[in-house]
Amino acid sequence: MKKIPPPDEPMYQRKIPYLIKAAEGEPLAICRCGHSKRAPLCDGSHVEQPGNDTPLAYTPERDETLYVCGCGGSKSMPWCDGKHEECPWW
Ligand code: FES
Repeated sequence: MKKIPPPDEPMYQRKIPYLIKAAEGEPLAICRCGHSKRAPLCDGSHVEQPGNDTPLAYTPERDETLYVCGCGGSKSMPWCDGKHEECPWW
C-alpha cells in the first residue's frame, strides 16, 4: 500500500485516539478544525482557519471516557471510529 502523508493539522499527528475522562454535567468544547494547541479540546484556533470549523459542544449525561480521533481518518469526527488501524499514512 502506498504511504500518503498524514493530515497536516497538528491534532491529527497520532496513531491513536485522545482519551478524555469526562464528568457528568461538565460541558466540553471538542476541536473539529484540527488546529487546537490544547487538543482534543478547542482553544479558539478555528476562527483563524479557512472554513471556521466550530467545536462540538458536548455535555456528558454521566461520567464517561471519550475517544476523540487523533489520526484524522475517522468518518465520525470528532470521535474515534477505529479507522486509525487502517489509516494509509501510518
Ligand atoms: S484515532 Fe482516528 S479513527 Fe481512531
